Amino acid sequence: MSLSFRHLTSTRQLSRADTDAILKHAYEMEGVVKNPKQDERLKGKVLAALFYEPSTRTRLSFETAMLRLGGSVITADGFQFSSLYKGETIEDTMMMVGQYADIIAMRHPEQGSADRAITVCPVPFINAGDGPGQHPTQALLDLLTIQKERGKIDGLHIAMVGDLRFGRTVHSLTYLLGLFNNLRFTLVSPKELKMPEKVTSFMKEKGMQFEETTDFAAALDCDVAYMTRIQQERFTDRSEYERLKLVYVLRADQLKGKNVTILHPLPRVGEIETDVDALPNAAYFRQAKNGLLMRMAVIDLMVGG
Ligand code: CP
Repeated sequence: MSLSFRHLTSTRQLSRADTDAILKHAYEMEGVVKNPKQDERLKGKVLAALFYEPSTRTRLSFETAMLRLGGSVITADGFQFSSLYKGETIEDTMMMVGQYADIIAMRHPEQGSADRAITVCPVPFINAGDGPGQHPTQALLDLLTIQKERGKIDGLHIAMVGDLRFGRTVHSLTYLLGLFNNLRFTLVSPKELKMPEKVTSFMKEKGMQFEETTDFAAALDCDVAYMTRIQQERFTDRSEYERLKLVYVLRADQLKGKNVTILHPLPRVGEIETDVDALPNAAYFRQAKNGLLMRMAVIDLMVGG
């Protein structure tokens, strides 16, 4: 099974064949995780996990994925503990780390940092989030979760809710869903946090049917509601964040009689009440678990034999 790309920076580069191959391999990874015997297919390979912006799920699932496949991990955390703090460029960092590792996953606060990295990166590179840009492995694990929860992708009605402007996960997922057929989208956000024009232009070009609204109730009549947190770290005006941060809050009573699957890339910061967690609609912790399977699949396909 081979992919059409060497580096993964954006879901826009994924073909349908790539996506199907990655999904299939992610399902196969369930067997690896359940098998008590250590899988050693990536023995001798090293993943560099470079996280220059906070992360819990992405970083830990990348690291666990490599360890589950028998490989090893080296890490760098935060600007202040790396030579980026001393002024080293992303390009020099890639040239260096590529001498130590067989594959690099990087999170960086600057949109476009991943595109800079791959101009020189000597080993396969994965964008683990570049500011408000893209987060392609998140979109792939979201896709896996939708397929597992709803049994299909084609024909679904999907709502995206919250910070559609700065939320990189909704950008990546929308591009990825452009590979599928007959989907309908309801984009729910405050007017200040609407989906960027470049994403809605893509949707128009692809003939993807969508409506934009500020009405949260519309999301709960969909097949999937993809909730997002308001991205505090992207606001220059703190009072604007405070005004918008809890504009949409989901509670269990709103889901009575509803068949909608609730996704969230996490972390949540109040936009889903914890009383939702026990409902069958709540798929966000299963979604986080799928992140491990998906990152195992991606790493193995990019660096494996
Ligand atoms: N979903 C996600 O990217 O979570 P982290 O920021 O914890 O990695």
